[in-house]
Amino acid sequence: MFGLGKSHTNSLRMDAPQPTSLLDIGAQNVIGKPLDRYEGPLKVSGRALYSAEYVFPDMAYGVLVGARRGAGRVVSIDAEAVTSLPGVIDVVTDFKTFIRNPGQGGETEAPTQGVEEIVYFGQVIAIVLAESYEAARDAAIRLPVEYEEAAGRFDFAAHKHETDVPPENNTPAHFGQGDLDQAMAEAAFTVDASFTTPSQNSAAMEPHASVAMWDEDRLTLYGSYQIPTKDAMQLADALGVGKDQVRIVSHFVGGGFGSKLGIAPETTAAAIAAKRLGRPVKAVMLRQQVFDATVRRSNTEQRIRLAADAHGRLIGIGHETLTSNLPGEDYFEPAGIGTHFLYPGEHRLITHDQVRLNLVLSGSMRAPGEAVGMLALETAMDMLAEQMAIDPVELRRRNEPLLDPEKNVPYSSRSLRECLDLGAQTFGWDARETRPAQRREGEWLIGMGMAAAARSNLLQSEEAKVRIEPSGRAVIETAMTDIGTGTYSVLSQIAGELLGLDPRSVDVRLGDSDMPASGGSGGSWGACGSGSAVYLACEELRRQLAKTLGVEPGAMTLKDGLAIAQNKSMPLAELVGDGIEAMGAISPGKQKDAVTQASYGAHFAEVAVNAVTGEVRVRRMLGVFAAGRILNEKTARSQCLGGMTFGIGAALTEELLHDGRTGKLVNRDLAEYHIPVNADVPQLEVLFVAERDQHSNPLHAKGLGELGISGAGAAITNAIYNACGVRVRDYPLTLDKIL
Ligand code: MOS
Repeated sequence: MFGLGKSHTNSLRMDAPQPTSLLDIGAQNVIGKPLDRYEGPLKVSGRALYSAEYVFPDMAYGVLVGARRGAGRVVSIDAEAVTSLPGVIDVVTDFKTFIRNPGQGGETEAPTQGVEEIVYFGQVIAIVLAESYEAARDAAIRLPVEYEEAAGRFDFAAHKHETDVPPENNTPAHFGQGDLDQAMAEAAFTVDASFTTPSQNSAAMEPHASVAMWDEDRLTLYGSYQIPTKDAMQLADALGVGKDQVRIVSHFVGGGFGSKLGIAPETTAAAIAAKRLGRPVKAVMLRQQVFDATVRRSNTEQRIRLAADAHGRLIGIGHETLTSNLPGEDYFEPAGIGTHFLYPGEHRLITHDQVRLNLVLSGSMRAPGEAVGMLALETAMDMLAEQMAIDPVELRRRNEPLLDPEKNVPYSSRSLRECLDLGAQTFGWDARETRPAQRREGEWLIGMGMAAAARSNLLQSEEAKVRIEPSGRAVIETAMTDIGTGTYSVLSQIAGELLGLDPRSVDVRLGDSDMPASGGSGGSWGACGSGSAVYLACEELRRQLAKTLGVEPGAMTLKDGLAIAQNKSMPLAELVGDGIEAMGAISPGKQKDAVTQASYGAHFAEVAVNAVTGEVRVRRMLGVFAAGRILNEKTARSQCLGGMTFGIGAALTEELLHDGRTGKLVNRDLAEYHIPVNADVPQLEVLFVAERDQHSNPLHAKGLGELGISGAGAAITNAIYNACGVRVRDYPLTLDKIL
């Protein structure tokens, strides 16, 4: 890594709109272009190393052991029964206070005898270490554990009347305005409907994996994470060491979808085991352990109430939700988050209550909140349109608010109407039968449905360093990650555009907590946040270059590796001498509250429902999205395709099933947990509506990664209703519920 000296930092706090963007200069004309993935060749040729692929001399292999009870405590673990097996080295059961660094002046607590309390089935209680993976796995299976079982809470329905109010989570747990009951009583049209959505798993292709090695008192851990900066701090905290003693490296991440926002059990286990053995330790979670012991999206129960006047304008909206999590955990699935700002209505009630269950931790999964909340809200909107006998697209057109209905502030940008119009036209929405079950082809009933998409736009504090080397190439460094989203490509395009370089002349280095701090990949903030930091660093480099040329930055053009001013041009390589570098930093400010920021879109789906078997086939889908400036049309489109595919899964197949007696997850692999496969996913079309947002960041771009899932499943359920007249409100819509 470079940057031993101190480089100048160009900082921006988003306190005011940013009316101009250097990206509009267009000298290089690469921003927004559908460039192929920067790191694509590395991935397809196997040169991109994922965490589990790191190999170090003298490395030991660890396999985790999960509790075989759903509640209670571990009485004893008979490590000696397996340490005598060939190749087995040790069994580590203490994950609490194993490491205390005397150098930190910290207290040295005696190691406890491991995890005692079991709060869910599969909870990690030990890691078995061996000379080979096979020996470790064999011993892990054989490890004798004695439990004392306790009564657990495994059944949502049985406990759903015992709730508590969790603390705020990006959205207040409870929000009320006006009098919804009164509005419902006075409304010309009302909908009052309840929905359920099941627990889900992120099911990223790459399982969670860590390779840990200590150099004296400093840990380097190759792991699969979305936010190395914060994950390193979290790990340091878990280990009881200083945060400068932990380095996390995540150059490539094979999908995360929220499950890799924080550290997982294999991380701490590998770090502790490596310290104890004085050797590098690799711990890869089995697919079943990813399901058992990382994180789930909570199941939900949601009641939607809509109160509309005679013209279909909403005067009241209610979204009351129940979710579940482990006892003592603060997080809740913010299912009502999009309902705060999507539609108008003076009378509002949006609530989140939590049911305590002994099931694996619930946490963030792609578009936490909107992904499941809009399955309910957008189906209820379809029910309202039907009741009023108006087109569901038209119902949404009539409910475009001028101001945020709760905060009374403007929208930073909102092109929902444009998305609806372009979508309806492109999809051939005119051909939709207004009444259900009108179109039949053989034994298939055909229907069309639509839903709005909305996802909040968020900004984290971000830093990036950019250097122009003596060769004239640029290098970017930030602890931001690329979790399959296209970060490598997008950052190379931003720097390429601003520095007048071909993006292939920009080297992007990501995913190392020793690099400039980043909010990482999560909440759809990654590209905009880290992209802005790169932008700001490049703006500073442009100032330095102009100064060297003796002109104002505005009088200089950077193009094709040349700096051009006053009819003279000079190669960057000559201009930068030994190289120049700058740091860019962005942080959220007053704009966060001055305007309501979100990305919008519209989903359209056509489905066929088999009249004999109830089988649903999605025939085609169109998503039209507006998310400010699109930074790379190809990677952006891929994000939307992925989100829409998640929507198909949410609507039709995905559902975690727990044994009601123990909480044991019974469909804990990709054979039994049904995510859509190629045969389930038809032609998906994605269109973007041109938009710029001056309030979001200097790129004028907004979050996109989670927009594609938000609302997508509801377009399918509405299409199923249009096809066959069956309105299922318990997700997923499996054929037994349709028949
Ligand atoms: Mo996302 S669920 O914040 O990775």
